Amino acid sequence: MKKKIQEALNDQINKELYSAYLYLSMSAYLEAQSLPGAAKWMKLQAEEEVEHAMKIFSFVNERDGRVLLAPIEGPKQEWTSPLEVFQQALKHEIFVTESINNIVTSASDEKDYATLNFLQWFVAEQVEEEANARENVEMFKRVENNPHGLFMVDRALAARE
Ligand code: FEO
Repeated sequence: MKKKIQEALNDQINKELYSAYLYLSMSAYLEAQSLPGAAKWMKLQAEEEVEHAMKIFSFVNERDGRVLLAPIEGPKQEWTSPLEVFQQALKHEIFVTESINNIVTSASDEKDYATLNFLQWFVAEQVEEEANARENVEMFKRVENNPHGLFMVDRALAARE
């Protein structure tokens, strides 16, 4: 595996683990806001992010590359509202999509077809991740400052398995 691709994949492992840390922090905030369903949704999302990191971790090893773990930045801890949490989660997913797209471009430039093929799963996953994040933002927008509406949205998010 070329150094440039290895570095980009290591950097993506860090971003995925940071995503997990960020979503866990969001989960803690939502729990403190008495929104257990939204908190559960975010906690499950954090677990998914760890799985994303581990997929890349295994791929780098499989390709005889070297995984080098870097420090994970501390996440934000406070938000002004549940809506702000979900808006930032969407913004973060768009950032992750851009990051994946950049590695796709590099893999293509380097004619690294194995990495290119591997990344297709992430390209598809990001479509889903952004769609889910957008749907959540829309739900919270509709019920902002309406306690009964918030209760219903929280119940809907609690259904995630
Ligand atoms: Fe691993 Fe939510 O992107």
